[in-house]
Amino acid sequence: MAATNVKAAANRDLAREVAQRRTFAIISHPDAGKTTLTEKLLLYGGAIQLAGAVKARRAARHATSDWMEIEKQRGISVTSSVMQFDYDDHTVNLLDTPGHQDFSEDTYRVLTAVDAAVMVIDAAKGVEAQTIKLLEVCRLRNTPIITFVNKYDREVRGPLETLEEIEATLKIDCAPVTWPIGMGKTFRGVYNLLEDRLLRFQPGQERAAVDAELIEGVDNPRLDDLFPQEIPTFREEVDLIREASAPFDLELFLAGLQTPVFFGSAINNFGVQDVLRALLDWAPPPQERYAGERAVQPAEKPFTGFVFKIQANMDPKHRDRVAFFRVCSGRYQPGMKVQHLRLGREMRIGNAIIFMANERVTSEEAVAGDIIGIHNHGQLQIGDTLSEGEDLDFRGIPYFAPELFVAVRPKDPFKAKQLQKGLKELGEEGAIQVLTTEMGRTVLGAVGQLQFEIVKHRLAGEYHVDAVYEPITLHTARWLSYPDKIMRETFEKRESGSMATDVDGNPVFMATNRYNLELAEERWPDVRFHATREHGEILATD
Ligand code: G4P
Repeated sequence: MAATNVKAAANRDLAREVAQRRTFAIISHPDAGKTTLTEKLLLYGGAIQLAGAVKARRAARHATSDWMEIEKQRGISVTSSVMQFDYDDHTVNLLDTPGHQDFSEDTYRVLTAVDAAVMVIDAAKGVEAQTIKLLEVCRLRNTPIITFVNKYDREVRGPLETLEEIEATLKIDCAPVTWPIGMGKTFRGVYNLLEDRLLRFQPGQERAAVDAELIEGVDNPRLDDLFPQEIPTFREEVDLIREASAPFDLELFLAGLQTPVFFGSAINNFGVQDVLRALLDWAPPPQERYAGERAVQPAEKPFTGFVFKIQANMDPKHRDRVAFFRVCSGRYQPGMKVQHLRLGREMRIGNAIIFMANERVTSEEAVAGDIIGIHNHGQLQIGDTLSEGEDLDFRGIPYFAPELFVAVRPKDPFKAKQLQKGLKELGEEGAIQVLTTEMGRTVLGAVGQLQFEIVKHRLAGEYHVDAVYEPITLHTARWLSYPDKIMRETFEKRESGSMATDVDGNPVFMATNRYNLELAEERWPDVRFHATREHGEILATD
């Protein structure tokens, strides 16, 4: 009896801990203010003490990591990182994503590991092409999205115009939650429409002081006293918006159909706390995840999860390889033994790490929603499932058909082995797609041009091999699946000039132009040509 009670209490604890988790990604076009917002959120969480720490950390990383030079030179963030902090009885896991479109595959993988996303939009620039792409990716998974329209301390577009643009271009209903008072030099702060109040504080203050003034009601005369110039326009806009826009609806938000919109200025800390509150109050706790046969509930006792990202050589001083692992159920404990389902064998997870804002620390425990880093020597790949026994397979991390290609060879022919090793590891990491043609040529495929640059840089820095890229006329590639073995043999013999294999040994059709692909599809109606495939998936015969 006593043992049953202990067990029941442990299960209750797990459910309670899971309910306190919030795991989300920040997405934006480069320069919209993602890093600044991240930093302000971490300041609230007390995870960092000083504004500028995230940028400093980025700079420190540049100093220690050679290949991130490219990040620095171009002022972009190539890799994505994970930060955990506690705020108001919650444990928040924040996943940063590379803003640059050349790395959208990486962003997609990160989005498979979160339960919500914050989309940052630069109010001056409005919705940019990359934001449209990112939102499409969120929509594939119905990820609930919170929108933060940034930089109201500049002369930007009016909030009504921005809302219209978001609705029209991103095709998502907007429910404004806060509204800016003034703009540019006369930006006074944001009024919370739902709570019908303004919490006043000075620009740049890290948080509202305990005795910060609270002004309730849009018609409050105190607003006229304080901001006589800005208030008439503000009232007009609020009247309009209250009539014209739909109120915030939690269910629509959770279904990914409506986005609550917050206005503000990340750098001045205006409107940031409202975003954090929304994350805690409205964003969902860890959700169930489909794993082949069934959905795994986050509060189930057995430990399960999947790898969504591999990062090799994060610290060039110690050649390491870390798998970023999203816990989907149960509880991680140091030294625990789990089943590695793709390899069909047991694996011990020694010292997993959690990624705090400023440092990596050894993880004592982790539950659903948490992201742990597992050191490994290549056993773990993107998409791998680990479980405490049950045969599960978390799916959904795709590769996209590459659209850019180069042939690659080592500058020094004696370094062919190093090149292959480097490409194998970088391919597994998802940094690039590596294809081997029927003629034995190695071809790199990418979604964005910058991927090639990064790979070249990393091959030189981490594997000590100079790669030479040569142009190759290719339009696109498609993964193939066949109804049977005979069809496979016939197809691959006849189309041998267009055949290649990917890192997992999947057959790939390489098209020199669009017509080439269309023709092959017409000629072989029983063969399937796939523009995406999931990690680890072997397609060859359906
Ligand atoms: P990202 O991660 O999305 O690429 O953007 P990041 O936060 O690095 O911000 C891009 C630029 O926009 C930075 O300026 C940053 O200071 C500025 N910024 C962010 N939030 C605001 C805001 O609320 N108002 C205004 N006016 N600017 C903002 P930078 O000059 O590129 O960098 P830095 O010199 O500030 O480091």
